[in-house]
Amino acid sequence: MARDELLLPDPDDEDLILEGEPGAVPASSGGAEAADDLLDPSDPLALSLRPRSLAEFVGQSELKRRLSVILEAARRRNEPPDHFLFAGPPGLGKTSLAGIVANEMGVSLHVTSGPALERPGDLAAILTKLGHGDVLFIDEIHRLSRSVEEVMYPAMEDFQLDIVLGKGPAARSIRLDLPQFCLVGATTRTGLITGPLRDRFGLVARLDFYDPSDLASIVMRAAGIMGANITTDGAVEIARRSRGTPRIANRLLRRVRDVADVEGDGTIDGDSAKEGLAIFGIDHLGLDKVDRSILSALCERFGGGPLGLSTLAIAVAEPTETVEDVYEPFLIQQGLLARTPRGRVATPAAWAHLGLTAPTAVTSQGDASLFD
Ligand SMILES: Nc1ncnc2c1ncn2[C@@H]1O[C@H](COP(=O)(O)OP(=O)(O)OP(=O)(O)O)[C@@H](O)[C@H]1O
Ligand SMILES: [Mg+2]
Repeated sequence: MARDELLLPDPDDEDLILEGEPGAVPASSGGAEAADDLLDPSDPLALSLRPRSLAEFVGQSELKRRLSVILEAARRRNEPPDHFLFAGPPGLGKTSLAGIVANEMGVSLHVTSGPALERPGDLAAILTKLGHGDVLFIDEIHRLSRSVEEVMYPAMEDFQLDIVLGKGPAARSIRLDLPQFCLVGATTRTGLITGPLRDRFGLVARLDFYDPSDLASIVMRAAGIMGANITTDGAVEIARRSRGTPRIANRLLRRVRDVADVEGDGTIDGDSAKEGLAIFGIDHLGLDKVDRSILSALCERFGGGPLGLSTLAIAVAEPTETVEDVYEPFLIQQGLLARTPRGRVATPAAWAHLGLTAPTAVTSQGDASLFD
């Protein structure tokens, strides 16, 4: 299986790009399909594994608590909540949270993304269509252009839209009142969000990788929704190897279920989960082929580093951004890779994981550069 299927969003399944109810933004989400399942639980798409309420959202307890206080306070005051920014690696639940905010507030969700909003007019078209209190979700908000971002500031702060009509000396600017709305931004890169934009969010929350017990609950919940037969051992085995990421947990569950259906009696227990994961090249840490090739390129071809990100990306034939956003965070979290000012370095744990002995010089060099 291609590693993309395990790691990257797959538009065919539960990771549908969402669009709001009638009146929501048309096509601005770049090929989004209508998926108002979020707002209507009786929809056939209710099969979706996406959690719809805070209660269904497993883990991230601190974040959930903050969010529920803010939402409850807004509900009591009968006004839209403050704007939210969710940051973190792919597949941890940022899009799901945007849907949950809309759902919990009982309003429509409008979805778009940073790259889809090319000109200020694109944003203006969306903002003027919002209903009172609606949630506007901007995915990849770090990719908003400067000019669009500037229109965003007064919109977020004062619910006002400044539009410039005409060009040159004849140009004049008019100010429009917007309905109060709640902006939810998602980003995999907090570092790329400008200070002024970040400061205008009432809550900036970073999603962390999930711990194995939360992931096991996510797997059990998903298995329940899919009608799959799974034991606790099976769920724990899948959870342990899911890189702390619910999307990957759900995807591995589906692959393991395929194997259990085809080669077994359909029951997912510890053994069939192990077997299924082995077939798809997931090792005991949850690393896949690309993760391992990143580590082995570093250790076997470049003596453990330090190696520049772009060279590393070329060595494994992946885009730099994918290596940086998708693969590295987990390798770093696992203590297998370190970022240093001089480049990426394999840690002694990486050498051990590959079954290689780290040359002493490299080990000490790697250790030393951790503290650069
Ligand atoms: N806390 C959770 N509880 C249960 N399921 C979850 C949770 N978080 C995520 N999921 C599952 O993982 C899938 C991916 O989540 P989501 O699309 O919200 O991630 P994301 O952070 O928006 O990812 P990306 O950055 O790639 O857009 C969801 O469809 C859902 O099935
Ligand atoms: Mg998303």
